[in-house]
Amino acid sequence: MSFDQTLYRAHLGELANHWSRSLVEEEFDAAVVPAGQVALRFQDDMGPPFVPNPHFAHWFPGDDCEGSVLLLRPGARPKLFFLATATYWHKPPSLPEWADGAFDVAPHNDAKALRSAIANELEALGRAAVVGPEAAWTRDLPRALANPESLTNKLFFFRAAKTPFEIECIREATAIGVRGHLAARDAFLGGGSEFDIHMAYLAASSQEESKLPYPSIIALNEHAGLLHYQHYQRARPAGTRSFLIDAGGKHAGYHSDITRTYSANAGDSFDVLVRALDEQQLALCDAVRPGVSYIELQERMHLAVGAVLVATGIVRCSPESAYEREITDVFVPHGLGHLIGLQTHDVGGRLAHENGETAPPPARFPTLRYTRSIEENHVITVEPGIYFIPMLLDELKQKPAAAAEVNWEMVEDLAPCGGVRIEDDVLVTSTGVENLTRSAFQAAEPCA
Ligand code: GLY
Ligand code: MN
Ligand code: MN
Repeated sequence: MSFDQTLYRAHLGELANHWSRSLVEEEFDAAVVPAGQVALRFQDDMGPPFVPNPHFAHWFPGDDCEGSVLLLRPGARPKLFFLATATYWHKPPSLPEWADGAFDVAPHNDAKALRSAIANELEALGRAAVVGPEAAWTRDLPRALANPESLTNKLFFFRAAKTPFEIECIREATAIGVRGHLAARDAFLGGGSEFDIHMAYLAASSQEESKLPYPSIIALNEHAGLLHYQHYQRARPAGTRSFLIDAGGKHAGYHSDITRTYSANAGDSFDVLVRALDEQQLALCDAVRPGVSYIELQERMHLAVGAVLVATGIVRCSPESAYEREITDVFVPHGLGHLIGLQTHDVGGRLAHENGETAPPPARFPTLRYTRSIEENHVITVEPGIYFIPMLLDELKQKPAAAAEVNWEMVEDLAPCGGVRIEDDVLVTSTGVENLTRSAFQAAEPCA
């Protein structure tokens, strides 16, 4: 993992300013930020892959840091208690070169000793906040509070706007994802099964499955109508018609989240649907800019989905009427998108203010994850979809007036395709938007 040192140091400077201000305002003398430790499975001596506490990862890129802890004090250089236990069972974490000079490093090879070293330091200080999964630490640290909301709200709110370092990391995560996507598309066109496509994605993006930003969704046919479909069927179904892939890349802890959908038969009814949604998706991306309300864009997505449903003959009434009568909700039951960064669904999307004031989603769209105002340097996804989900279509059939507006023959023809989703990650600029995903596809396939 390599990254630009100058950008990284500037990023650390911004973090230091923000954490210092927040700690002072909340009257903390220090923050203890553990990277975290894998919790073993029930009655087992093995656990899931280690994923660092994002508050720690914000300072320390990568995941070779299990058991390490940061001690942050306003105005002081961050101190890194770096755990590298000598063992021949695993390769211990090794201190990266870029940490040198960025932190005051206190190396430790014993977790208990590391913990008492922190307790000793805190004794000389006043009030501390533990920011991370190890809230139990506060038992040993009598004056420490675990994850105080007034502080974490400030940290969450701040994380939405990315620093230039973070933007470069997301760019690289996108390039990684795009390499996988192109190989996945080719594996699909070459007749591969879900499992074959999954393996092609991993190989081309050079990612281990356990280190993906999220489990790849590789869905042939009706599986595309299961929004987070999680299996990889070994056999290619006879008469394959469609392919939806939602898969991302990770670089220095930062994620990309990309979805593409393909028809097996160029020019068929599903292909027409994919192309029509693609056009609307691009228009939605272009509409993103500072000051625009994402809730309005969510409504606009419904109108766009309505327009596609009407243009393709699936729905007979006007797009506006399909929206007003909640027919579009049946075809797109998820939100337009979310913030992305150290987490695929990055935190703080519903915070209106760093003081914790929230921006609740509208009653009609309770799952919308991004409701605060769109601001420069936010990185967000734009992911409209149109699905044929039997459970929701059955509910629609129970409403005769609305059901009469649907061409059920077309729905029956398209239902075996599951659905279409197109998802890009976009960076909000001062005046508009930069589509990171489209640029990466363009760079990878300039003639496409
Ligand atoms: N890949 C999960 C999502 O698109 O939100
Ligand atoms: Mn997404
Ligand atoms: Mn996705």
